[in-house]
Amino acid sequence: MCGIVAYIGNKKCKSILINGLKRLEYRGYDSAGIAILSPVQNEKFEKTGKPRFQIKVEKEAGKIKVLEDLVKNIDMDGFCGIGHTRWATHGEPSKVNAHPHFDCTEKIAVVHNGIIENYSEIKEELIQKGHKFISQTDTEVLPHLLEEYLKSENIGDLQLAMHKLLKKIRGSGAIVAISTDFPEEIVAGRIASPLIVGTSKDENFFASDMPAVLEHTHNFIVINDFETVRITRNKVEIFNSDCKLIEREPFKVSWSIESAEKGGYEDFMLKEIFEQPYGVKETMRGRLLDGALNFDELNISEEQIKNLKKIQIIACGTSYHAALTGKLLIEKWAKIPVEVDFSSEYRYRSPIVDKNCLFVAITQSGETIDTLAAIREAKSKNARVVAITNVVGSTVARESDSVIYTHAGPEIGVCATKTFSSQLIVMYLMALYFAKVKGFVDGVDYDKIIKEIKSIPDKIQTILDNAEKIKNIADETYKHTCFLFLGRIYGFPMSLEGALKLKEISYIHAEGYPAGEMKHGPIALTDTKTVVVGLIPRDFIYEKMISNLQEVKARNATIFAIITEDDKNISRYANYTFEIPKTIEELYGILEVVPLQLYAYYIAKNHNRNVDQPRNLAKSVTVE
Ligand code: F6R
Repeated sequence: MCGIVAYIGNKKCKSILINGLKRLEYRGYDSAGIAILSPVQNEKFEKTGKPRFQIKVEKEAGKIKVLEDLVKNIDMDGFCGIGHTRWATHGEPSKVNAHPHFDCTEKIAVVHNGIIENYSEIKEELIQKGHKFISQTDTEVLPHLLEEYLKSENIGDLQLAMHKLLKKIRGSGAIVAISTDFPEEIVAGRIASPLIVGTSKDENFFASDMPAVLEHTHNFIVINDFETVRITRNKVEIFNSDCKLIEREPFKVSWSIESAEKGGYEDFMLKEIFEQPYGVKETMRGRLLDGALNFDELNISEEQIKNLKKIQIIACGTSYHAALTGKLLIEKWAKIPVEVDFSSEYRYRSPIVDKNCLFVAITQSGETIDTLAAIREAKSKNARVVAITNVVGSTVARESDSVIYTHAGPEIGVCATKTFSSQLIVMYLMALYFAKVKGFVDGVDYDKIIKEIKSIPDKIQTILDNAEKIKNIADETYKHTCFLFLGRIYGFPMSLEGALKLKEISYIHAEGYPAGEMKHGPIALTDTKTVVVGLIPRDFIYEKMISNLQEVKARNATIFAIITEDDKNISRYANYTFEIPKTIEELYGILEVVPLQLYAYYIAKNHNRNVDQPRNLAKSVTVE
């Protein structure tokens, strides 16, 4: 996610902005920029006696250090400015796409964190009115819209223009703007992206996150959806969604900068697990519009989808488990045969692939070398390559024919959590989209599936609200030396994921297995030192899973069952149970994996492991 810092007060703000951005580096970013209101030098004051202002801007791709070195010797000091670290969502990471962005007259500068879903139509409207754009970003429409409202529509107030802008855009955004015509204020608005005001004597701040300004103030006000805010040197004015001025008292935090970076969580991994309701919503954004599915980014015509003979999905590690889920759903709903391979195996096994095959590569980092090699292999055989990744401008994104970004926001913890749930959402939406195009899903089923997908963020939240229960189970079972994760059909990829999470952060031996395979070998492992984690939702294979659990129960394993809410039946077989909300059978996986992530996390913490940086592992695996 992008980072925002803005300052107005009695101090020169260049270094305040740069230091604020440095404090946001932990969030991940690909470029950075600042813009400062500065009085025009050597110019006679106008009749008012007040100086005329200009906006001085500097931005660069890459590290903040580059920007810092650049601005060191540039005269751009003023008492009011905005800064931004960009995590690309629209348009590659580059200087021109970095924020702040300007209107045509360069009198308004804007930084933005979020995604504007309807930016193409807004851009088109603005182009018709004579506006010119220079970047590939969605953000650039924002200063142009403000310009339009202030000039053509004669709204003589930046906050009112911001209010109108919030009504116009769809999507998410924390938006902060300065204007040379309003040099004594900074204005912001928020829809669904974090935005806070930091307040202190003779100075006020906007920030996406507390660490940006924690060295200046510990007094904060959280801004809610559809609110707009005006800050001046010594005033904070908050306006509700009806544009009425409202009162809100600041609250005080005692966090250190380090704990604030983690949002008060102990580790990034835990923070990212808890960010999943927001992450999956962002993945759905723009793709689920009033019940209709939009997958223009696939860049494949309906005719081409109808003619697909095969889909080949490749991935590594956690992404491979999303691929397995994709196969189950695409084959069930869209009736297109799907093969799934580990990227590292794919090109060594003489795969059959040609132009009638859609080749899908899943990789959160977009840099995994094996996945990249498999893509090159497929392209050499004329397959059309679609990448699903979280990192805009990554090598895989650049080398693929089309890209679906998961938009989960940067993931700092080495092990994949929120990027995985976002990959699952893409799999659900893509499978349903193919089914719809092929006419294999009728209106009733389609509406039901869409409704269930939309309810996933709330259901994940319900699970997270009960995290303490998982912690208690982990506290009681962490000393076991062998963990078997069992699932069937949609639960099987999640059993693999549960085992992978546990082994990578706790270093305890764990395996994921299709439950029906136990009696063909692994059951020999079960004894009193074994925990069997059974995924046993109320689906069509429920009874069979119960038989599988009884088999391990008879061998004295400790059983922890993840079950559907109100299922009172399983406690007869299981030592521990955890309830997840009801959904349709195809979607249980995403609800099962959240308690599995938490379970792995709490077990690892019991063993005092460094969960954010587990031994021997890297976030991007760029070696074969
Ligand atoms: C597990 C994990 C790894 C990655 C794997 C693939 O938590 O993070 O297993 O899933 O290295 O990485 P990407 O998805 O970046 O290709």
